[in-house]
Amino acid sequence: MIPDIDEVRLFLRRLGFEESSLRELIEQIEYFETEAPERDDIVRDYLRDECIERLVKEIVREILRLGKGRVKLLDVAAGSGFFTEGIMRKLEENGISVEVYGLDITPSMLKRLRDKGITPIWGVAERIGDSIRIANEYYGLEVPEKFDIVVSTLAFHHFLNPEEVLRSIKDVLGEEGRAIIVDVLKHSHEEFREALKDTHTGFSLEEIQEMGSKVFREIDARPLGLHCEVNGVMVGLYKAVFF
Ligand SMILES: C[S@@+](CC[C@H](N)C(=O)[O-])C[C@H]1O[C@@H](n2cnc3c(N)ncnc32)[C@H](O)[C@@H]1O
Repeated sequence: MIPDIDEVRLFLRRLGFEESSLRELIEQIEYFETEAPERDDIVRDYLRDECIERLVKEIVREILRLGKGRVKLLDVAAGSGFFTEGIMRKLEENGISVEVYGLDITPSMLKRLRDKGITPIWGVAERIGDSIRIANEYYGLEVPEKFDIVVSTLAFHHFLNPEEVLRSIKDVLGEEGRAIIVDVLKHSHEEFREALKDTHTGFSLEEIQEMGSKVFREIDARPLGLHCEVNGVMVGLYKAVFF
């Protein structure tokens, strides 16, 4: 269920990635392979406990708005599952029966997801549906191809093609489904590109609105009033809900 690096290359080729994007994706994977064992602690360093709690609460509040007793949830670029687990627990506390899947491109992150009781799926955010079909076929899995909720935390600025990720998310959302993205607002710290493997220096609410409106009917993007502290720099967070 969790591919080795040769299988990852095979899957990336099956997904049709050209050599240059393949190289960039492999670089991301290599970076996050080293981060995986420490990811939970890294998140705790970025955000204080009360911020972590608020962030989870904000996401859960949006999910409860669906008014469903059972929810099929996919976390895209779930990493070690730090937030996925928090969201899952809070939903259960609210009496919601939840089926949770975590998709990530980095094999060591998938192992952490599995350890937390979250079904891991190897995949690329830009090609979620095809990634699920490949994983189902290759491993004989029965991962659903549609979800009620897709969430993604602290990952959107890493994607090579964020607009394609929004399209790919839309494709796996059911009729009434919604996507919830929490990530860093636009900042001026170019040094994070190298130091943290950030592809983009965050996005402004206007950029999110513009990208989202090409794909979704409605977007509600607003600052969360929370900050990540990264290498001594404070970076604001936003929450965007896509219908
Ligand atoms: C900064 S971490 C965020 C992890 C987690 N969501 C969190 O909040 O802790 C970014 C994650 O995105 C994953 N990732 C990067 N590019 C990806 C892509 N194109 N498709 C799927 N996962 C990707 C990395 O493997 C990594 O686990």
